[in-house]
Amino acid sequence: MSTLLHLDSSADRSTSRSRAITAAFASAFREAGPGNVVIHRDLHTDPLPHLADASLHWAAGLRAADASPEPAAEDLQRRLIDELLGADVLLIGVPLYNYSLPSSLKAWLDHIHVPGRTAPSAISSAPLAGRPAVLVAIRGGNYDSGTVNEGRDHATPVLELILGEEMGMAVTVITNSLTLASSVPALAGQAGRSESEYAHALRRARDLGEQLGSRTTAPRR
Ligand SMILES: Cc1cc2nc3c(=O)[nH]c(=O)nc-3n(C[C@H](O)[C@H](O)[C@H](O)COP(=O)(O)O)c2cc1C
Repeated sequence: MSTLLHLDSSADRSTSRSRAITAAFASAFREAGPGNVVIHRDLHTDPLPHLADASLHWAAGLRAADASPEPAAEDLQRRLIDELLGADVLLIGVPLYNYSLPSSLKAWLDHIHVPGRTAPSAISSAPLAGRPAVLVAIRGGNYDSGTVNEGRDHATPVLELILGEEMGMAVTVITNSLTLASSVPALAGQAGRSESEYAHALRRARDLGEQLGSRTTAPRR
């Protein structure tokens, strides 16, 4: 029995590719093992507030002596972190917005990246080390090397840095680019490539969901 924490952040509720691909992953994960559980958090339809107080970036034992975050804000952060720590696998739909993360997803990240709690520090190790995190990165344009957009995707690298390098999670990225090819005339010639990347991403999501959902996870201590 394994638990998946499934996050979506696309503001498109009807034709979103990230939502379709994360749904395919989650469904394969659910079916891969008896008792598998999927916790779905829709950061767009049920948005989180911005981080209420800078002191919440630090675990309680690392905060300044005069820090006094609101108890309600601290409680929300505790629930989000417990939800993450309780999951065997993390799945995130990441549409590229203005070359960056949707603000709804950034608010979640600001709540859960906490040195001393979810990231190593003088008072703790890395509780999420080695745990799988799957990013479904969807972009309207072309980000190939040699194109004008090369290096301008500032969403995936931030998540790889925070979840992977800082928190120690094992990050896998599934990508589909050029999703605007069917609506932006300048990209029209690349619609076929976008569709084939989409089909490949759906297959990969199903395979990975099944693989991670059928793993036996060690009991938490
Ligand atoms: C607010 C907003 C900003 C966007 N900014 C970019 C951008 O900077 N670069 C890009 O390639 N596509 C951009 N797009 C297009 C989306 O990345 C594209 O529509 C993608 O398919 C969104 O993911 P989804 O299909 O899961 O909704 C933007 C879309 C929106 C709604």
